[in-house]
Amino acid sequence: MAVLLTGGAGYIGSHTALCIANAGLDVVVLDNLSNSSPEAIRRVSELTGKEIPLIIGDCTNKDDLEKAFSAYPIDQVVHFAGLKAVGESVAKPLMYYRNNLDASLTLLEVMAAHGCNQLVFSSSATVYGTIQEMPLKENFPLGCTNPYGWTKLMSEQIFRDVGKADLGLSIVLLRYFNPVGAHESGRIGEDPNGIPNNLMPFICQVAKGRLERLSIFGNDYPTKDGTGVRDYIHVMDLAEGHLAALKYAREHRGVEVFNLGTGVGYSVLDMVHAFEEVNHIQVPYRIAPRRPGDIATCYADPTKAHDLLHWQTHRTLTDMCRDAWNWQNNNPMGYRNA
Ligand code: NAD
Ligand code: UD1
Repeated sequence: MAVLLTGGAGYIGSHTALCIANAGLDVVVLDNLSNSSPEAIRRVSELTGKEIPLIIGDCTNKDDLEKAFSAYPIDQVVHFAGLKAVGESVAKPLMYYRNNLDASLTLLEVMAAHGCNQLVFSSSATVYGTIQEMPLKENFPLGCTNPYGWTKLMSEQIFRDVGKADLGLSIVLLRYFNPVGAHESGRIGEDPNGIPNNLMPFICQVAKGRLERLSIFGNDYPTKDGTGVRDYIHVMDLAEGHLAALKYAREHRGVEVFNLGTGVGYSVLDMVHAFEEVNHIQVPYRIAPRRPGDIATCYADPTKAHDLLHWQTHRTLTDMCRDAWNWQNNNPMGYRNA
């Protein structure tokens, strides 16, 4: 049997492909490469010593999904495929709703046609909206502040409804906090198109000299040093969370949701200083105005994932900073020059 990773050539997908292939599962990737490179999957094959098939196809296209399901004995799917830039989603909401919702709907239809009933979905902590009570628990009220977030929350709702209607389904919704870092080999990592939106790739590109300085978005938040606090999680810990979720899906029916975070929050200045210390490199920064839509603090209560998935994070902030830099330093232009 095989696990299909939609969007598996992307940042989290490629690390998960590596992790689950190393655990002995057969992996198939379907990706339209709109935000990724086939080189990522070539390197995963190299690192695991297993040929990982990459189907270049679109998850909103039934025929493309059919190709995957007809060619391989797929019994589980991890659904990463989606557009993820918050700012872009505000500017191009239709593109986000069309791509992210269509991908979820089409996938469900093709899975049903092939009798595949186990799914793990990439959701996000963004579905907790602007709630201020921390740590965030899975049963807190939900709401979103941008179209990207709504596509995640709406997809969650679709999966819940479909799971209610078909009691044979196993659906695991994973709410990721802030994935950072890279595989320890430095061969795969995060490779954003253009100027990064997220903190860690921005820090890495400043350290490498690709960008001049980091803008810290606000130092007047009600946090220990005034800068925003987030729950950064090493991408390999996150990848292992998917392995645990796939096991859970094999053993349970119904729909379940889990936070995947460390439970610990670090500020932007914590991240900058840790990165500088661990890698012995300067990260020039300036304080800039707050970024619209940002909240002060966001971190998970990961207890449910500890208890039911028997998963927990092992890697430290030092590991995150070292591995992120190792990837950036070895691949200054990401996969582009490969
Ligand atoms: P990514 O952009 O690196 O990976 C997503 C992949 O999906 C890309 O390879 C892209 O080419 C592919 N894709 C997009 N639309 C597609 C379509 N219609 N058909 C086929 N492939 C398609 O992003 P990532 O950081 O690896 O995120 C993976 C998933 O996790 C996304 O759904 C994202 O929204 C979610 N997520 C990410 C974060 C984060 O901080 N990175 C946080 C929470 C949730
Ligand atoms: C962002 C998205 C979130 C999405 C997540 C993963 C927004 C408002 N939120 O989360 O919906 O799920 O990415 O893609 O875009 N920061 C700086 N300077 C920078 C970049 C970031 O100071 O150049 C700060 C931010 O203000 C924040 C922290 O660093 O306090 C983390 O930012 P980021 O990495 O973008 O993640 P989130 O905002 O948590």
